[in-house]
Amino acid sequence: MHKIKIIYILLIVIFISCKKEEEYKLIASVPDLEMPTNHLKFKEIEEYKNYKIVGTHFRTDKKELRYILANNKAFKAYNEGTPFPNGSKIVKIGWTVKNMSNFNPALEANKVQRIEYMIKDNKRFSKNPGNWGYARFVKKEENYQAWSKGTTSCISCHNIAKDNGYLFTKMQKLQ
Ligand code: HEC
Repeated sequence: MHKIKIIYILLIVIFISCKKEEEYKLIASVPDLEMPTNHLKFKEIEEYKNYKIVGTHFRTDKKELRYILANNKAFKAYNEGTPFPNGSKIVKIGWTVKNMSNFNPALEANKVQRIEYMIKDNKRFSKNPGNWGYARFVKKEENYQAWSKGTTSCISCHNIAKDNGYLFTKMQKLQ
């Protein structure tokens, strides 16, 4: 009887430890805005808080701190150096900076200036180089606005990065 009890407890322990850890999804509520030209929605990247950081940049002319995040599909491709599959999403968030109040030499992110993203879709964006669609939402005063000037300039400038799949960002890794 005692043995049976032990086996029973062991089975429960095994069952609990094998139970797949549920994925914790962070949903960031974003405005219901849409790009006027290609109809990409801000909501498309509502799960961006689950994306992984690929790299960080600082634009010296705009004094803007930017970090680049990738969803799982895009991150895997980045990591393995393979082509970006359909559904890859890359998000860039740009912040103004300010000196940290309790440690002046350090700069910290201050206000969000923009959220931009690229999404790979070979049906919707079959005519775009690399099949990337582009979206930009800028924050003016306290409100976000969808970029109204179209995405021709995005496409032509990102052509500079053609050899890297039209992405400027390279994966930052510890060496
Ligand atoms: C004049 C050139 C230029 C234009 C125009 C431009 N970009 Fe970029 N973009 C860059 C550069 C350089 C980077 C990398 C440095 C940085 O983070 O700013 C970048 C980075 C990005 C990234 C991160 C992935 C990557 O390629 O590194 C996204 C997403 C992005 N841009 C979206 C857009 C969107 C959307 C538009 C148009 C509304 C746009 N870009 C217009 C030059 C440009």
